Amino acid sequence: MPETAYVTTPIYYVNDRPHIGHAYTTTLCDAWARFMRLAGRDVFFLTGTDEHGVKVEKSAQERGMTPRALADEVSAEFRRVLGDFGITNDDFIRTTEPRHERQVERFLERLRDSGAVYLGEFEGWYDESQEEYHTETRAKELDYRSPVSGRPLVRARESNYYFRLSAFTSRLERHLEENPDFVRPAGRRNEVIGRLREGLQDVPITRTNFTWGIPMPGAAGHVVYVWIDALFNYATALGLGEQDPAGSPRARYWPATFHVVGKEILWFHAVVWPALLMALDLPLPRCIYAHAFWIKDGQKMSKSLGNFIDLEAIRGYHDRFGLDAWRWFMATRGPLGASDADFRDAHFREAYLSDLVNTVGNGASRVTAMVERYFEGTLPVVEDPSRVVAGEDWSAALARALRAAEEAASEFAIDRLAEAGIGLMRSLDGFIHRTEPFKIAKDPARRGELALILRQSLEVLEAASALLSPLMPGSMDRLRRALSRPPVAEGGTLAAQVRLDPARTYAGVTKVALFPRVEEPAP
Ligand code: MSP
Repeated sequence: MPETAYVTTPIYYVNDRPHIGHAYTTTLCDAWARFMRLAGRDVFFLTGTDEHGVKVEKSAQERGMTPRALADEVSAEFRRVLGDFGITNDDFIRTTEPRHERQVERFLERLRDSGAVYLGEFEGWYDESQEEYHTETRAKELDYRSPVSGRPLVRARESNYYFRLSAFTSRLERHLEENPDFVRPAGRRNEVIGRLREGLQDVPITRTNFTWGIPMPGAAGHVVYVWIDALFNYATALGLGEQDPAGSPRARYWPATFHVVGKEILWFHAVVWPALLMALDLPLPRCIYAHAFWIKDGQKMSKSLGNFIDLEAIRGYHDRFGLDAWRWFMATRGPLGASDADFRDAHFREAYLSDLVNTVGNGASRVTAMVERYFEGTLPVVEDPSRVVAGEDWSAALARALRAAEEAASEFAIDRLAEAGIGLMRSLDGFIHRTEPFKIAKDPARRGELALILRQSLEVLEAASALLSPLMPGSMDRLRRALSRPPVAEGGTLAAQVRLDPARTYAGVTKVALFPRVEEPAP
């Protein structure tokens, strides 16, 4: 049985339409999932929508709709958009589905029975926009304002069910100490450890001020707080809360390899969620990966500034540059690490031109054009004992690229994954520059040498197309068709494709143009 891998995006609120934030997280996860499938892993990739809570209830009211109707509409839009973006999720979970609600209720019963959840009284600083309480220390640090909306925190008092988060402080601290990769990138881990050291308070997990949510079992009027409801999606999609979880065919995917989230929701994922899992005696995810934010021309993106890269703007990029160029930009120029990344039209164009037009596209078209021109598209097996031409040991280079890609994937370093593939294209460019096949072609006596150079170039192109396919699936398929090779296949074929294979036959190679120059001005 192949090793399993499980990657999740946050589930998206249905009171907002899809925008660059959603597109970003989801595209990163998609590239990772595609790579792991190629590498032979048994992958499960989950995304979905977070549909309960006050915010959705309010948005629906404002639009004169029921929360259910709003959720249906927006959730369907998210699903459609994922399709348009070439996302290969294995499931799409909605928190309003009976399978989710039923399991959340069961989880909460278990937590209450074990004493991890109890009925208590609470007063604290509440962030209405985020539906989140802050401790006195934290509230003071925040100057009694929401870090997200900037609106003042309010003093609120409730009788609610609580989760005994405080009881897990030292276990969580120990887990973070002993598992340096539990939170990535490293800077984020330090933030979490720092906040843990301040100590944890129990957190309310039900509310009585709204009804659009999962009812707390056996407690009339209490509705499960949307964040608790939402976090469980990662488990309910696998059936871990069903009566017989081991009987669920998906149970094998737990624990998750990566929960990929934005930095603003790291706390829930790195502290609250693991504590809930500890209380339920379930294994913890291997890593929470928190990326930073896209900003726009140096400013925070916000609805009030009207500078959000929304669905229409994204589609504009798809239409002019192609979906793969968009995916490439997300993967290589985005806020993957701890710092925010600025979305500028000029950056997009620069990345498109230097990486895709001049490097990937140019390398692919040069090599295929020469094979077409000098060998009528056919380069069968070429005799060559050493396979080292012009000092270029391609076997070693391909092995290095494969290792680099695998290591990058194991750290969710999607940018380095992209680099492993495009690095080969740069080396190929250098190789052609040094060996000058277009000059050798003029000398009929050097036909064998020419064949060997182009043969190796084709093999390197093929390897690069495999490594780049998780990021740019459509264009790499086209490249492979031009090479007369089948599309990359899932299930452990990657190592077989990222190596020199003198036995491969290339017949019917045709010149390919992958990334046209785009001249028109910004919209
Ligand atoms: N529903 C919660 C998550 C629950 S998970 C159990 C939520 N939803 S959300 O619709 O607000 O989506 C948040 C996702 O979009 C996060 O990953 C967030 O980081 C991402 N982004 C939102 N704006 C963003 C940017 N400007 N840049 C990058 N990603 C950002 O939170």
